[in-house]
Parts: sequence; structure tokens; C-alpha cells
Amino acid sequence: MVATISTPHYLLDQARRRFTPSFNNFPGMGVVERKLLNHQFPERKLADPPPGSGLKTAVGDAGLPVIGHIIEMMRGGPDYVKFLYETKGPVVFGDSPVLPGIAALGPDAAQVVYSNRNKDYSQQGWVPVIGPFFHRGLMLLDFEEHMFHRRIMQEAFVRSRLVSYVEQMDQVVSKTIANDWVPNDARFLLYPAMKELTLDIASMVFMGHEPGTDHDLVTKVNNAFAITTRAGNAIIRTPVPPFTWWRGLKARELLENYFRERVQEQRANPGTDLLSVLCQTEDEDGNTFSDEDIVNHMIFLMMAAHDTSTSTVTTMAYNLAGHPEWQQRCREESDRLGDGPLDIDALEKLESLDLVMNESIRLVTPVQWAMRQTVRDTDLLGYYIPKGTNVIAYPGMNHRLPELWTDPMKFDPERFTEPRNEHKRHRYAFTPFGGGAHKCIGMVFGQLEIKTILHRLLRKYRLEPPRPGYKCEWDYGGMPVPKDGMPIVLRPL
Ligand code: HEM
Repeated sequence: MVATISTPHYLLDQARRRFTPSFNNFPGMGVVERKLLNHQFPERKLADPPPGSGLKTAVGDAGLPVIGHIIEMMRGGPDYVKFLYETKGPVVFGDSPVLPGIAALGPDAAQVVYSNRNKDYSQQGWVPVIGPFFHRGLMLLDFEEHMFHRRIMQEAFVRSRLVSYVEQMDQVVSKTIANDWVPNDARFLLYPAMKELTLDIASMVFMGHEPGTDHDLVTKVNNAFAITTRAGNAIIRTPVPPFTWWRGLKARELLENYFRERVQEQRANPGTDLLSVLCQTEDEDGNTFSDEDIVNHMIFLMMAAHDTSTSTVTTMAYNLAGHPEWQQRCREESDRLGDGPLDIDALEKLESLDLVMNESIRLVTPVQWAMRQTVRDTDLLGYYIPKGTNVIAYPGMNHRLPELWTDPMKFDPERFTEPRNEHKRHRYAFTPFGGGAHKCIGMVFGQLEIKTILHRLLRKYRLEPPRPGYKCEWDYGGMPVPKDGMPIVLRPL
């Protein structure tokens, strides 16, 4: 049990968070950013449209040598992309040396990319970002092959399976929140605590390790997993020891070996965890996954589930701490459920938490963008996009457009209720879980996990900001992360 926080450890951790050099905290970076936003870079064209096609040429620029627009992107995130949309329109060419591509901005562009009517857009756009670490994960498969795998995996997410996952999640959540979190201390950092909690949940629900058992193995696997996930953000993007990319590949090897062994064990002695379920599931025609498929899917699933849920639950707790009226409203629903065991029916009654979740992931969208690559020449809102072009849709920005959302930066969960229904102003106004064939398969799983955590938390503590007027700042380098680790005070009720 962790009853207190060690001051030296806390100070070191804060120093690391504040002073590790990045585009976000380097002195003078704010001035550089403003200059860059006002600078006119020479125009670059993507490609001339075929004569007589009537299509327009997509234009943009290359930004700075070597780093392109990384500074504006890392610092501004969705606000920078909104600036692009407002100043250049929905189809903008970024001839970036890092990852050249077309930004497909706004809900109409999102609709074309997600609905993918003519199968012009493949998932291979994700490969340069995460390919080597997550190859053959479901999100990286395309078309027929993707549907084949998705049908089998779908069976692992049907309601009867979710019932059993919820039971397992709740065991881990109840134990951790009751015993491991430090109350009445403004130095308690919610983000790392949540990250650890969601990993512990995954160890049990995904891999079948009971909490507190197999400690060394679980720690080794969790570390390897964290390294693999971070590797996609590496600056040196080739395997040179001892740098991030190389370490990511080594960690992937460890995960492959671990999951191969677990598949053998689970095939012999099936349990109820997700890995075990993937060993058993089959589609309607009796197709099943091979051992290698399960290894690849598990490594991807761990990644897809982890930072997304952590980011969502942290943002929600932050908003609840800052909006006591919403916290009270959610707590009243939780109080009606009490402290008995949770199930899906009970969680479905926590309707205010659904509203807070939607509003939280609208404002801070965990998966800010969707990467695609064109498999043939195509037309995006009247612009010519040749085969092989990276195309990036940007839901994180669409969620902040004033033409879709009233007072977009205001925390206002009621916007998702009748009669306002702002999320229905456009079919692709609100896509935190993506859309079309690749829409998040773990959406309900994630929502149940997040609601389980918040229900237990709200029953036990009042959430308070660390100081009056506290505003969190987010680092948009990868998935949004609170720069300061998100201090929250837990007041026992
Ligand atoms: C709040 C939590 C989550 C968010 C915001 C989220 C978001 C997303 C998004 C935006 C996509 C689509 C990416 C694209 O279009 O290229 C996606 C796909 C996916 N997600 Fe999630 N996700 C969450 C939780 C989970 C969980 C808990 C799991 C697994 C248990 C999961 C598994 C997947 C998988 C396998 C895909 C790929 C689906 C496919 O390509 O068919 N996600 N997720």
C-alpha cells in the first residue's frame, strides 16, 4: 500500500517532466512558433491533375528544412490544424520531409476518407508511423483480408464475452483504487497512476495474470510494451542501438516470444481472458486465427486499448474535478448503484458519465488523426490525389469547429443530449472512435472499462483540482498527454 508520496521522488519526477527538452518547453519556442505561423513558405504542388479532369491541384508547403511543421504541430496540435483549415481550406498538402501527405480536414473530408466508398484509401498510411512495431495488427490490414480477421475478432467482443471482462476489470479497479492511491495530497499525479491501473487491468483481462501474481513476468512484459508503444515517436527512425527505434524492435521481439508461449498454454488450458478467447473464436464459417495471427493481434490490441483509455479516463477526471456540478450529477447515479459488483446493465445506467466521456474526448481526442494511403488516383472534394499519397483525416480538429459545435472550447456535456444533439449536425462531426470499416472494435470494451474506473473513484473520493484555477496543458506529440502528469486531489468521502 502506498500511503504517502516521497518528496525527493516527486521533485525529481516533476523536474524530469518540466525540463526534458522538447518543442513544448524549450525557452523561446513560443516566439518561434508565432513566427512560423506568420511565415509564408514557398508553395509546393502535390501533382498536376490529368488534363480535362476538372480537378483542382492540392497545394501547400514544406515548412522548415528537415523538420517541416513539427514545431507548430507538436505545440498547437488541433489548434494548428484548425489554423490550416481556416487559412488554406479542407485539402492541404504538407510536403514534409518527415511524412509528406495531404491533410483531409473538416467533416466532409472525414466522410470521404472513413466511408471509403470506392476502396481508394488503404490503412498503409499508418505503416511509416507504427508499422514495424505493430505489423499485422487489425488496423494495419486492408479490405478483404481485414474483413476476414475482423469477423473472427468480433466474436471476442460480443456481449457475453464483455460480461466476463467487466467482472475481471472491476476486481483490479476496486483493489487498486482502494489500496494504492494517495488521498489528500496535491502531489498525487493521476495520469501515471491511471496508466499503471490500465496496464494492470490489461494484464488480467487481456493476458489472464491475476493481480499480484507473476509479478516479474508481468513487469517485464509491461516494460517491453511501453517501449514498443513509444518507439513510433522516435526521431531517429532506423534501428541504431541504443536508440528508441532499435529498442522498440527488441521489445517487440520479447512480446512475440511471450505471446507465442502464452498461446501454447492457453490452447492447452483455456481461460476467459481476451488472449484465451482469441484462441477459441471463430467466424460463422468456422475460420479461426493461427498462432502467429494471435501474437500480432494481441500486441496491437494492447497498444490500441491502453493509451486511449488512459487518456480518456484522465481527461474525464480532470473535467469532473473542474466542474463539481457534473461530478455531483455523476456521483448521484453511482450512489444509486452502490458498491455491489458491477455488470454491463449497471454501467449502462451511468448516463451522465457517458455525456462527460463524449465531451471529454471531443475536447481532447485521444486518437487525433487517421492515416491512410491512396491505392489509386482519386478525387478528394474535387482535388486530384494520385495513387500512393498519404492522406490524414483529423477528427481532433473537427471536434473543435465552431460551425459544428456551439462555443467549442467550453465543457458542456449537455450538447450531446436532445434537442441539441450537436454531434448529429454532420454524420462525421464526432468520430473519436473512427468510422467505416475500421471503426474501433474495442469501443464498448473501452467505455465499460472507463466507466468502471470512474464509478469506483467517485464512490470513494471527491476529485479536486490541485489549486484554484488549475488548467491542464496537453502535449500533442503523440497521443495527448498532460504535460505535468495531472495532479488531482482525492478527498475521501
Ligand atoms: C477510449 C478508448 C479508445 C479510443 C478513443 C479508440 C479509438 C480508435 C480509433 C479512432 C480507431 C480507428 C483508427 C483508424 O481509423 O485508422 C480505433 C481502432 C481500433 N481500436 Fe480503438 N480506441 C479505444 C479503445 C480501444 C480498446 C479498449 C480496444 C481493444 C480492447 C481497441 C481496439 C481497436 C482496434 C483493434 C482497432 C482497429 C479496428 C480495425 O481496423 O478494424 N480500442 N480505435
